[in-house]
Amino acid sequence: MATHSLPLVLVTHTLPAGWLDSLKNSCRTLTGPQDATVLSLQLSEHLADADGLFALLTIRVDQALLDQAPRIRVISNMAVGVDNIDLEACTRRGIPVGNTPGVLTNGTADLTMALLLSAARRLVAASTDARQGRWQTWSPTGWLGADLHGATLGIVGMGKIGQAVAERAQGFGLRLVYSNPTPRPEIEKRLGASHLPLSDLLRQSDFISLHTPLTADTRGLIDTAALKSMKPNAILVNTSRGQVVDAQALLQALQEGWIAAAALDVTDPEPLPPSHPLYNLPNCLIVPHIGSATWNTRQRMAELACENLLAGLKGKRLPYCANPEVY
Ligand code: DGY
Repeated sequence: MATHSLPLVLVTHTLPAGWLDSLKNSCRTLTGPQDATVLSLQLSEHLADADGLFALLTIRVDQALLDQAPRIRVISNMAVGVDNIDLEACTRRGIPVGNTPGVLTNGTADLTMALLLSAARRLVAASTDARQGRWQTWSPTGWLGADLHGATLGIVGMGKIGQAVAERAQGFGLRLVYSNPTPRPEIEKRLGASHLPLSDLLRQSDFISLHTPLTADTRGLIDTAALKSMKPNAILVNTSRGQVVDAQALLQALQEGWIAAAALDVTDPEPLPPSHPLYNLPNCLIVPHIGSATWNTRQRMAELACENLLAGLKGKRLPYCANPEVY
C-alpha cells in the first residue's frame, strides 16, 4: 500500500522508542509533545483528516473535538480510566473507545500498598528527619505509626485493582471489608472480605483505599460527611481518581484531625499546583499519579492501546472496549 493511502493516526504524546512499533506498517502517525496537557495545535490542525486518535488521560476528548474530526473511527486511550473521554458522544458517533484494563492491576495495587505502608509508618517524616539531622537517638516515642496486622482495611470498589489490593493485604494480616455497587460473594469467599454498605465501611475501617472509576455516582463520594464518619485514626489512600474525594473537605479533615492521614496518588486538580495547602500538611503524602508507573506496565499499556487502535482502523471489534454499546 502506498504510504499516503495509510490511515492517519494522531498520537497525542511522544512515547519512548519502540512502544508504538506495532503501528509502523499500518498507519501514518503524527505525534504531539511529550508533556502535552491539551491536544497540541500542530495535531489539532490535522483533526479533519485523522482516522484514529491515540490519547493519554490528560487529553480531554469531547464533543467539540469530535466535531473537528469527521473521519475518526477509533479512539484509543492509553489508560484503564476513560473519564477524560465523553463516551456518550463517541457512542453517538459510532466511535469505539479502547482502554487498557488488566495490565496495570498489579502495578497500581503495589503502589497502593506502598502508600498505605508509608502513611501508616510515617516513612516520609522519618526519612526527612533523618536527613535533616533530627535522628539523635533511638527514641522510644519517635516516629510512631500504626500497625497493619489486625487492623481493618476498607476497600471501596472491588474491581480488578481492589481485589489485587485485597490479595496483598491478606499477607499483612489485615481484616478486609469492602463496598461495591453489587456484593460479590465469590470474591468474599476467596479473599475473606465482608461486604458492607459504604457508611459502615467508613465507620469501621482503620485504612480506607479507593478503587472506583470516576463516574457521576462516585464524583465527590468522599465528602465532608464521609470524612467526618471515619475514625480519627483512619488513613485514606486514593489511587483511583482525585475527584472521588472532595479536596477542600479532605484539607479540613487533615488540618482538624477528623482523620489521621491521607496518601494520594491522584488529586483534584491534577497536577496539584505546588502552592496547594495539602502539600504543607505533614499528614498528607502526595505522589504524582504513578500507580501504573513501571517500565513493564507502561509498555504493556501502550501495546494494548496499539492493539485497540489497529483493530478499530480495520473496522474490527476492539479487544478492550470502554463503550461496547457502540456495537
Ligand atoms: C489509568 O490507566 O487509568 C491510570 O490512572 C493511569 O495509569
